Amino acid sequence: MSDSTIVLITGANSGIGYATTQLLASQPKHHVIMACRDVSKGQQALTEIQNSSDKIQGTLSVLQLDVTDDSSIAAAVETVRQQFGRVDAFISNAGTLALQSSGRAQLREMFDANVFGALLVSEAFIPLLLQSARPYLVQVSSALGSVGLASDPNDTWYATAWYEYRMTKAALNMATIQFHKRLSAQNVRVFAFCPGLVRSKIRGDSEEAITAQGAAGDPIDSAKGLVDIVQGRRDAEAGQFLRTDGSGSWPW
Ligand SMILES: NC(=O)c1ccc[n+]([C@@H]2O[C@H](COP(=O)([O-])OP(=O)(O)OC[C@H]3O[C@@H](n4cnc5c(N)ncnc54)[C@H](OP(=O)(O)O)[C@@H]3O)[C@@H](O)[C@H]2O)c1
Repeated sequence: MSDSTIVLITGANSGIGYATTQLLASQPKHHVIMACRDVSKGQQALTEIQNSSDKIQGTLSVLQLDVTDDSSIAAAVETVRQQFGRVDAFISNAGTLALQSSGRAQLREMFDANVFGALLVSEAFIPLLLQSARPYLVQVSSALGSVGLASDPNDTWYATAWYEYRMTKAALNMATIQFHKRLSAQNVRVFAFCPGLVRSKIRGDSEEAITAQGAAGDPIDSAKGLVDIVQGRRDAEAGQFLRTDGSGSWPW
């Protein structure tokens, strides 16, 4: 494993995390640690990816990790430390709209996963990132979290609701800026990344929700953007809030 790039992706069993795992696994010398809160879903996703094509050249493993559970985080760090001794790229992707809840409970669940979870799990893995020769820390955010866009009446998403979700991604963006300032001197390339509007179950399980009424694109495009980052093609933009397709950055 010493000559493979070790990429850990949270929420790897579904949507953007799944597509990114699949894309990385199609390339040699990559090992993807699929961090999933439900190991059986993770194992099912791993088997699907391994059976999906004969082009799988990388390797995969599943790791139990619920980003809202401190003991799960601590156990995951210890497992990775023992098995791999380092992480080359940490993609903090797990996120939720907590659609099964409402009011204060929904706010708590969203902030717990999208902000506190992303922050604390990233923090916990920093010592393993610092063992890498070329470490990357990527927070999967959303342009909906941009304060600049949210306050611009000319922006497409100006009138979009989901303001609680927007708040979580704005907070995540602030955390990313702080990670960048703290870690860039230690050679860690830190990014926030908007994956674009793509098909996934985050908006619900109906076809309408998955496709955002037909507006959502293919998560493989988000995956390409994330793979560009962890393979060094966007190093010059470290510390920024990147757009999906290589066309620059969003305002914070
Ligand atoms: N899809 C879009 O259009 C879009 C646009 C902008 C940003 N994003 C962001 O992209 C990221 C991935 O979302 P997606 O669209 O791929 O949605 P998704 O298909 O629902 O995937 C979300 C993943 O996060 C996991 N997750 C949720 N809560 C977790 C927790 N407490 N601990 C560990 N894992 C947890 C889910 O696990 P389970 O399967 O067990 O629920 C799932 O694997 C999110 O951060 C989202 O905010 C998505």
